[in-house]
Amino acid sequence: MCFTFVQDLFDFIASSLYQFVEKNDSVQSPITKLLGFTFSFPVKQTSVSSGVLIKWTKGFAIRDMVEKEVAGALQQALTRKGLNMRVSVLVNDTVGTLALGHYHDADTVAAVIIGTGTNACYWERTDAIIKCQGLLTTSGGMVVNMEWGNFWSSHLPRTSYDIELDAESPNPNDQGFEKMISGMYLGDIVRRVILRMSEESDVFGPVSSRLYLPFTLRTPLMAAMHEDDSPELTQVARILKDVLDIPDIPLKARKLVVKICDVVTRRAARLAAAGIVGILKKIGRDGSGGITGGRSRSDIKMRRTAVAVEGSLYTQYTMFREYLHEALNEILGEDIARHVVVIVTEDGSGTGAALLAASHSSENVNNIQLI
Ligand code: GLC
Repeated sequence: MCFTFVQDLFDFIASSLYQFVEKNDSVQSPITKLLGFTFSFPVKQTSVSSGVLIKWTKGFAIRDMVEKEVAGALQQALTRKGLNMRVSVLVNDTVGTLALGHYHDADTVAAVIIGTGTNACYWERTDAIIKCQGLLTTSGGMVVNMEWGNFWSSHLPRTSYDIELDAESPNPNDQGFEKMISGMYLGDIVRRVILRMSEESDVFGPVSSRLYLPFTLRTPLMAAMHEDDSPELTQVARILKDVLDIPDIPLKARKLVVKICDVVTRRAARLAAAGIVGILKKIGRDGSGGITGGRSRSDIKMRRTAVAVEGSLYTQYTMFREYLHEALNEILGEDIARHVVVIVTEDGSGTGAALLAASHSSENVNNIQLI
């Protein structure tokens, strides 16, 4: 689906919502339904139910939306469609996931999305947030949407493949961490490596023209090749032939493809794990003993700490998940890592937004719709 104008996008959402309500309830209902709106892009939040889009990520590029009010645009589309609904909560997908995670497990302190894009949020004391000087909340805390996909550091080694992928993307110099980790990009990094090898050697036969097409190799296919456990690597052979037009390559070359997938995924998973440990460190849950003085790591009494994780890369890609946990254990050490539990939420971003809409309102919880 491709939208040129912002109104088209929000009219599409309103129409889908209309169909959903028509199927499940009465569109004519006189009761105003409250809507929790999950918007998975960077927003400058101006209230619990409003905010302006800072920029698009993940390949979206509807220009007349940037710096515009997001919930307002949906509200107008709902009204145009004749839907009696009010957007009562606007949240990032990470925040919805944190809400659902915390609903199931009160030890949840952070939420991470690892899917098409990647991002995290965590609960922080308001006095530790420099940007919100003097702003008080009843709980003394606030959720920080980190937008970690845009994190960058000169310590992160970038390969020539990362540099080329970034330069050819619609948002160069942006979302550097995301471009090394998330599902939108991993398959394309692998494609670029295979292309270079193909150009510089004859290991994959003549250079296939399909290798020049960006995003021909999607991450789920890369995962299927990586996790091919057949002795002849038949999945690898099939995908190379059908998707990249590289037929009949020897087993040795197929093994090389598996290795490339392994390296790219392992790096991504380890970077995501490092990000999670960064959060735990910031809030004193990494066992480094900031408040416990000179005791050894194993003496420190760690509080159980839960991190809610969502996104297809984590849930569908076993090797990615295993590498992420391996890195968490490695960085934290096993004594500390066993107190850190990852909980997987299902549609946390949507359901969490509905929970927030419900808890933010005195009206009946049955009137909450998820989108
Ligand atoms: C992108 C968005 C961010 C979102 C993440 C996961 O990084 O900028 O807001 O949370 O994708 O969907």
